This record gives sequence, structure tokens and C-alpha cells, in this order.
Amino acid sequence: MIKKSLFTGKDVQIGDGADNLIMAIESSCDETACAIVKNGREVISNVVASQIKTHEKYGGVIPEIAAREHLETINPVIMEAFEQANINPEQIDAFVGTAGPGLVGCLLVGLNAAKTLALIYDKPFIGINHLYGHISANYIDTDIKPPFIALLVSGGHTQILNVISNSDVVIMGETVDDAVGEAYDKVARLMGLPYPGGATLDKLAKNGNPLAFKLPEGKVDGYNFSFSGLKTAVLRLVKSFDGQELPINDICASFQECVSSTLVKKVKLALKETGYKQAVIAGGVAANSEIRKKMFELEADGIRVHAPEMKYCTDNAAMTASCAYFFSNSYDDADTEVFSRVKK
Ligand code: KG4
Ligand code: ZN
Repeated sequence: MIKKSLFTGKDVQIGDGADNLIMAIESSCDETACAIVKNGREVISNVVASQIKTHEKYGGVIPEIAAREHLETINPVIMEAFEQANINPEQIDAFVGTAGPGLVGCLLVGLNAAKTLALIYDKPFIGINHLYGHISANYIDTDIKPPFIALLVSGGHTQILNVISNSDVVIMGETVDDAVGEAYDKVARLMGLPYPGGATLDKLAKNGNPLAFKLPEGKVDGYNFSFSGLKTAVLRLVKSFDGQELPINDICASFQECVSSTLVKKVKLALKETGYKQAVIAGGVAANSEIRKKMFELEADGIRVHAPEMKYCTDNAAMTASCAYFFSNSYDDADTEVFSRVKK
């Protein structure tokens, strides 16, 4: 891909086998992150400043507070990424920022920082779709290439994607209500677990019986998902204990069993329909132990399964830099605006 440098407009080749150092910033939600990645797969530095402590007391992310904290954190995070890599900004081939989807006030901070660096050092600027960013976490330290089926599970999204190539991604199905991560966080909250509850719920589930309670799988056609009925069923279950001690581990394990089997069942269907022999998982919930386990069980059917390392599942900028190297459908002019939802 030929991209134009932002100040003088000179041509720079990005991706397609070029030798590139790409610096990316990610600030779509409550992590301020900056990374430098070589040739899309080799992480030279990766810095993530999490705001979980700030938002914990509210039980969720407060967008205005998150945006302000990004403003305070962004410069030190960028400096640290350069220090860790022992690289000067002049050596960078392109500066990248997440354009969306995400919280608009938060995205603005990272995107404008990347644009500014591109202007100062006269390099191309590239705006990234965060969802393709999550998929690209699978490219770090591997040789995996499309076509594959991607199960994208995060706090804001749940999708089954047919990744035909790095410029052609078809959404086969998605949630009609809550995202998986959202369902995890809400269920964790109603059992009194701290925010964000996904990882805690996962941990407690390991000590519980997944068959203790039969919970309902969302009834939706094709590759779509629904998790709001499941969430209500857990609420009813919790209320039925009426103040008695909750069998928290068993509830977590039963919820996790229901979610993971629903997700992986549809991945199997998508693999069958496309005839693909590769599947990847992506997004914060890809850190979930049971979803990973069930996905890797597909290897017994001759499927190559790939999951990013834990630190590349939740929001980070290494995946964003990798995305800029591989995906050709990014936004790359100075007028690129942030967006909260993917345009259909
Ligand atoms: O991708 P991500 O960092 O942010 C978004 O783009 O949404 O995902 C965050 C979500 C949260 O809902 C969090 O609870 C969930 O990922 N999560 C998990 C686990 N680790 C993080 N959910 C289930 N099991 C986990 N181990
Ligand atoms: Zn994310």
C-alpha cells in the first residue's frame, strides 16, 4: 500500500512486505496504549496504562472521566514506548491511531496525537478500525494469514467474521442485544463481583460445576447471538436464593458453559459453511479460559486454531500497529474523523 506523508505528501510504502516500523496509539475505551511494531508481527515495545482503578468505583466506564485521563496519560505513554524500543520518532514509517468504534472523546485524544506526530515528522497517518485491530492481534508472532473465521468477543462487540482477505471481511453474524463482555460484566456485577467482572467470573468458574444450573441459550437464527435472556435468567436464579448464601462458583461455571458452547457451536457452523481450516479468536473476552479451551478442541477436527497471547486480547496498541501493516481498508488522510459505531 502506498500512503502519503502528512506534511509534504511524499509516497511511503506500508505493508506488502515492506520493511516498516509502525507506531500506534489506542485510546478507544479505558486503556491508553502505545506500541511500536516491526513488519506487522514483531513487537518492539508495548505500553498499556489501564484506567480500571478509576472506573471500578462506578461499576463501569464513565466516558468523560476516561477522556480526561487519556489526556493526562498519553504523553508519558508515548515517551515510554519510544524509550522501551530505543527508537527515535524519525525512524518510524507511519503513525497510527484507532479511529473507532469506541468512545468519541477518548478516541479523539489518541487519533489527534497520532496525526500530530505524523505532521511533525512528515510521515503517513493511518486511522484504524478497532475491530480489525483486535483480529490483527492474531498476526503478532505468528505466520497466520486469511482466509479464516474470526470470533470477535469484546466488551462492545460479538461477531462471527468471514475474513476472506485483509481487505475483505464479511460479518456473518453478531449479537442482537448485549455483547459477550457486557453480559459477563453485568452478571458479575449482580453477584457483587468487582468491575470489570469477566476475568473474575472466569476464575471462579474454574471451581464450579458447569452442569449445576441449566441456563437458556439465546434463540436466534443463523450466526447471530442474544445474551440478554441469559442475563435475566441468571438474575432470576440469584434472586431465587433469597438472601441465602449463593453458590457463586456453580453459577459462574454454568453461565460460562452456556456462553462458551453457544459461541463455539456457531464458529463450527461457519467453518463448515465456508470450508475453511483456520479459526482465530479476538477481543478482550478471547482471554476467557473456557472459550479458548473449546476453540482449541476444534483442532481435533483438523482446524488450525489461533488465539492471541493474553496481553494482546484486551485493548493494546500492538494489534493496532499490526493492523495498519496488514489491513488495506484503513482511513489514511488528515481529515479522518473518529466514530462511535461502525457505519453499515
Ligand atoms: O477488548 P476489550 O479490552 O475492550 C473492548 O474493546 O470492549 O474487552 C474488555 C472485556 C470486558 O468486558 C472484560 O470483562 C472482558 O473483556 N474480559 C473477560 C476476560 N478478560 C477480560 N471476559 C471473560 N473472561 C475473561 N477471562
Ligand atoms: Zn477492544
